[in-house]
Amino acid sequence: SRGVERGADGAARVGGVDVRDLAAQHGTPAYVVDERDVRERARAYREAFEMAFAEIGAGVDVYYAGKAFLSVGFARWVHAEGLRIDTASGGEMETALRAGVPGSDLGLHGNNKSDLEIARALEVGVGRIIVDSLVEIERVADAAAAAGVRAPVMVRVTTGVHAGGHEYISTAHEDQKFGLSMAAGEDGQDAPAMVALLAVVARPELDLLGIHSHIGSQILDPSGFEVAAEKVLGLRAELAQRTGVLVPEIDLGGGYGIAYLPGEVALDPARIAKDVAASVAQSAARLGTPLPRFSIEPGRSIAGPAGLTLYTVGTVKPVRTDDGVRTYVSVDGGMSDNIRPALYGAAYHAEVVGRLSTAEPVLARVVGKHCESGDIVVHDVYLPGDVEAGDLLAVAATGAYGRSMASNYNMLTRPPVVAVRDGASGVLVRRETVDDLLALDEG
Ligand code: LLP
Repeated sequence: SRGVERGADGAARVGGVDVRDLAAQHGTPAYVVDERDVRERARAYREAFEMAFAEIGAGVDVYYAGKAFLSVGFARWVHAEGLRIDTASGGEMETALRAGVPGSDLGLHGNNKSDLEIARALEVGVGRIIVDSLVEIERVADAAAAAGVRAPVMVRVTTGVHAGGHEYISTAHEDQKFGLSMAAGEDGQDAPAMVALLAVVARPELDLLGIHSHIGSQILDPSGFEVAAEKVLGLRAELAQRTGVLVPEIDLGGGYGIAYLPGEVALDPARIAKDVAASVAQSAARLGTPLPRFSIEPGRSIAGPAGLTLYTVGTVKPVRTDDGVRTYVSVDGGMSDNIRPALYGAAYHAEVVGRLSTAEPVLARVVGKHCESGDIVVHDVYLPGDVEAGDLLAVAATGAYGRSMASNYNMLTRPPVVAVRDGASGVLVRRETVDDLLALDEG
């Protein structure tokens, strides 16, 4: 990421703005997002994939996965960079629509969409509804019939490839809620994925746009994408053989891994685009089918590295451990603004950013202000030994799945999302107030 640059006096700047000014103007905790960084990442993914797939003669669309972070302003940025938006609920869909993104540039996901979500998607003419079960195929077809429209659908399949972290595994059977398995049943019965595709083809109210595969998140080994793409192309060829229907599109999902800690290396969009393009070209040639149009759904890799969380240190407490002393540094937020360490054991990096310190580093743990001991922001990090109350602390790479998974645990108000660019800051999402919290109380 662009990260934090240090100014002459050692204080960090992000998007050209001094973090002390950000804290003074917007308060802490605050999510800070660098607009140029977001736009550059969005553009980098779009251009890398367009270029690599143009070389094999295929088109490609990039859908930003709004679950990573979505607000009206943010949706405008990524849409202006030529991305469409993948939404996973009615709320995400309305956010993108409010930003002026046309329905035709939206996709709607979800393993249990409500009737209202489906009706609304049809009403605004979403570009595609990704269906996830047989029940849902009938539900969407009935809704389309009622609305007098044809619904563009993709069928979400599971290829047996699960990736994330540093490796992928490939198993025949899936024990998770998403998608329709490509593994054939016993006695050679059709796989659920094929059954679903045939069910879509059988309903005239549905326009079978394509097949969708999402293999995981925070993936750092790109080979899983290639294996999954090959399987999906094979399924497409099989459907064509049986029905004469050659689906026009394949979506390869999101999951491109980012660097959370210093020294970690993110997936490079240019490299992965080239590798996947080369591999799908080979598969299609082997199958003897023309290439479909492709799409991808990156979320984390666009929003994540472009965001940081700014906290103020409240207390510092040395605690004796079995092998020495650990300095517990409490900040003014915690698991309500970043649940990822508690939920996934996710590792983050923190720095004192309001000043430069030459003090000897100490082993520290950054913790929040919530009423439980699992409220950890950064498990292990070296901070300057003179870290003290009032210091500004930045946690890097919190732009994805931070604000979007935030809660009001302990009735904390959720932090604002502050955008920075060219030395100026503006509010994308304001800080919640206690009045906001209490506005819902009716009893
Ligand atoms: N497309 C589909 C169908 C997805 O399910 C997801 C993520 C994405 C795209 C975007 O994946 P990304 O590029 O952001 O990895 N809360 C977890 C991540 C959950 C991801 C779920 N699906 C976390 O904080 O790590």
